[in-house]
Amino acid sequence: MTERLEARRLPTRRTLFHPPEEFARLRESGPLSRLAFPDGEIGWLCTGYELGRRILGDQRFSITGPDGNAVLVVRPPFLDDETTDAIEDDIERDDHPGDILSMDPPIHTGYRRRLSGRMSARSVGRIADAIEGIVASRIDRMGSAPQPYDFAHSFALPVSLDVICALLGVTERDEWHTALALFERDDVRVQDLVDAVQDRHDAMREEVRNKRHDPGSSGLLADLLGEHDLNEDEVVGMAELLVTAGHHTTSNLLPLGLIALLTNRRWWDALVEHPERADDIIEELIRYFSVLHHGALPRTALEDIEIDGVAIRAGERVHVAVAAANRDPEAFPDPDTLDPDRSAWGHLAFGYGIHQCLGQHLARLELKIVYTRLRERFPDLRIAMPLDELVLHPEYSDAHGVKELPLEWDR
Ligand code: HEM
Repeated sequence: MTERLEARRLPTRRTLFHPPEEFARLRESGPLSRLAFPDGEIGWLCTGYELGRRILGDQRFSITGPDGNAVLVVRPPFLDDETTDAIEDDIERDDHPGDILSMDPPIHTGYRRRLSGRMSARSVGRIADAIEGIVASRIDRMGSAPQPYDFAHSFALPVSLDVICALLGVTERDEWHTALALFERDDVRVQDLVDAVQDRHDAMREEVRNKRHDPGSSGLLADLLGEHDLNEDEVVGMAELLVTAGHHTTSNLLPLGLIALLTNRRWWDALVEHPERADDIIEELIRYFSVLHHGALPRTALEDIEIDGVAIRAGERVHVAVAAANRDPEAFPDPDTLDPDRSAWGHLAFGYGIHQCLGQHLARLELKIVYTRLRERFPDLRIAMPLDELVLHPEYSDAHGVKELPLEWDR
């Protein structure tokens, strides 16, 4: 009972540039504190970088809860236990085949191996021209669009999805936008969410079937279909995960990073004046915003584990707050300052260990192309609204981000 009183809910009140202040206060008394999960379970919250990295790299922690389902650290107000179960039941899938973000080794290992080579920096480099084309055509449309121009909806969302489609070798589908967009709304009806998730799944299955009957087709999806020991459900699950894991992370970071660049013009200009600095600038933006705030990172101890003198019992959950870990001053001196001169490499925004983000090379490349081409075309780009009027996504959405980002520039 005492434990219950000590445990607190996950701090979620994030500002545009900073994670919740409580993280830093909690870290002062140690990197692990008690955390009350939305279903009433008491577990642990990790706010430190070094410990967070160790936990994410430790395979004595599972990515699922004891029942095999993903663990929520913040529950949207429209999801109670009953509704969550209903969603799981309504979606006609068994075991989420191919959804590697909800699997432990050895099953995870086999699937991940199919994807990792195809998403390496070198493989992703092969679609650089396609990304350049996607960005160039969107910049052309932006150039003739009325101002203020909402970068979040008119640019970041479609570009991020088009890039994933280029990777997969499929055409963009509305169904892939809808379910994710609903999660960021305050007034969503649960049945709409269930329908949208099912539609997204059905649309991916249709794409997979079309690909199977198109022998000359290329892209990651065609490659996966060429692996004859993967069945259709597995390919659909893997492709669907790439869309869900990659879309709103990148589409939310694109506007946030742009805000940071437009309010730190030295780095905005450096993109073209010192292009050799671009990679460090992008990496610092990724650390600084750590967009996946309370997303997919909780783990469950598979056995009793002692870490730094703290006993974590088998079955207890630990949530590594990456946004907090990436602001740990022990790892990143003066962590609240955006400073591309520091070495941000090694941050945890892409996770760490066996589940470390498979899309990281794609995300880096996309961010670099977008910001560099924008700077070349619109050097005087400006935010057409006071920063304190930008509206953030609700605290329960997986990704940190702004609802809209109005921009203006001289023609
Ligand atoms: C800035 C953009 C992105 C961020 C911040 C990000 C963040 C993350 C994080 C933190 C994880 C690990 C979750 C965990 O350990 O529980 C992860 C996993 C993953 N991400 Fe990303 N991601 C981004 C973009 C992408 C993109 C563009 C794709 C694909 C198109 C992608 C695909 C994946 C996949 C497939 C996994 C699961 C890997 C596994 O379980 O082995 N991500 N991502």
